Amino acid sequence: AFDLVLARSGKQFRVEPGETILEVLRRDGMNLEWSCCDGVCGTCEQVVLEGVPDHRDAVLSPEERQANSHMMICVSRALTPSLTLDL
Ligand code: FES
Repeated sequence: AFDLVLARSGKQFRVEPGETILEVLRRDGMNLEWSCCDGVCGTCEQVVLEGVPDHRDAVLSPEERQANSHMMICVSRALTPSLTLDL
């Protein structure tokens, strides 16, 4: 599990092992774009401000992964205890 912080709203969430960032945010009522929920379409891409994502998608190139600046929130998780998104 890891903590998720939304920079613009200041909201904080806990993402447990069996759930995704996208699920947690949709449950809170956020109107986010998504499509495949499988890490292949790129629709759910979000900007990462702090923390290191655990990239599990098939969209980003190796260079984009290393940049730690974007992530697919339908499948990717966190390598750091906390992630901050530009939401
Ligand atoms: Fe398709 Fe996340 S919804 S990559």
